[in-house]
Amino acid sequence: MAHVTSNLQIDSTRLWEAIHETAKFGATPKGGVRRLTLGAEDKQVRDWFRKACEAAGLEVHVDALGSMFALRKGRDMSKPPVGLGSHLDTQPTGGKFDGVLGTLAALEVVRTLNDAGIETEVPICIVNWTNEEGSRFAPAMMASAAYVGDFTTDDILSRKDAAGITVAEALNEIGYNGDKPVGFQKFSGFVELHIEQGPILEAENKTIGVVDSGQGVLWYDGKITGFESHAGSTPMPLRRDALATLSEIVLAVEATAKKYTPKAVGTIGEAVIVNPSRNVIPGEIAFTVDCRSADAGVMDGLDAGLRAAIAEISARRKVDVKLDLVWRKPPTHFAPKLVNAVEEAATKLGFSHRRITSGAGHDACNLNTKMPAAMVFVPCKDGVSHNELEDATQADCAAGANVLMHTVLALAGVAS
Ligand code: GLV
Ligand code: MN
Ligand code: MN
Repeated sequence: MAHVTSNLQIDSTRLWEAIHETAKFGATPKGGVRRLTLGAEDKQVRDWFRKACEAAGLEVHVDALGSMFALRKGRDMSKPPVGLGSHLDTQPTGGKFDGVLGTLAALEVVRTLNDAGIETEVPICIVNWTNEEGSRFAPAMMASAAYVGDFTTDDILSRKDAAGITVAEALNEIGYNGDKPVGFQKFSGFVELHIEQGPILEAENKTIGVVDSGQGVLWYDGKITGFESHAGSTPMPLRRDALATLSEIVLAVEATAKKYTPKAVGTIGEAVIVNPSRNVIPGEIAFTVDCRSADAGVMDGLDAGLRAAIAEISARRKVDVKLDLVWRKPPTHFAPKLVNAVEEAATKLGFSHRRITSGAGHDACNLNTKMPAAMVFVPCKDGVSHNELEDATQADCAAGANVLMHTVLALAGVAS
């Protein structure tokens, strides 16, 4: 069996062209992509993806949360397939590779197996998970979280975007409210290829990251209630300024995360002044907090440190601050058997590699709680991601896709 597939290579040009073809759906002037989940551009890329999967002979099903499952039959259909894939939605100012690489590389793996006439022993199934990014609807990775039972389908369907549109309404609007129940497709394991979204592989001149762990995530919604009053006539000591309070909270998040450097990060990525006006002292602000660490103890420290700092700031400024934890995802430790399979594939193919922790969240992290999962990383330029300038080389994308393919072949086996 080994000699049949050991020299098998994906078609690097075909993969590169697919990445650039789909980048047209939501293309931005700066060369990035704006493809918010379940929006018009997401429908365009989904339609493209469905057509491409069907042309490759795959059977495509859509679940109640819009995730797409494209099955390639194996010799033994009594076994659950090996899953591979990622997501096709992007950040508002996202790039061409985050999620797209893993999904289209999975398609490229199938196209390569088709061309070579290779049947796997166990079936394989490509997935495009709905709303990995979490920028339109929270939480991020909501479809894979529901898949593993962290949320009910109805809970996720009722989540609203900033305009008050629910996930259910958005799915109906683009026609991706599928007829399959969430969880209908079982897997024997899941492998996700992704750009690193950080600087390590590039700095160390390594082609492949063998991802063995992922950071845990704490997401909060915050609300500051001070008192609106006249910007000209209210003396400084009498103010209860919500924005000045937020300024201190921003620095407290930074200081709390820095206390644990390099084991933690903390960000306030959204802040909105309610009824802003140049000559009114801000009275109400809504904000979000995103804190992460791969160490569960550090996550507890971040939570306690943040709450203590906010209690002190709010008491001193006589301003009310509410901080609601809306999502807590524990750190991920990927399945050793699959991590080893990724490492063996990278070694066999002769790529330089190292073990690495994922700074970003991924659907594979959710899936790993219910099945063995692993990830393959490739470098991205200057470690930049969630930015229109996000970039990766054709050679690195192809290397990652080859490692993905050989990992999947090791797991699925080749029918003799
Ligand atoms: C998803 O992109 C995340 O890590 O927030
Ligand atoms: Mn991603
Ligand atoms: Mn992302």
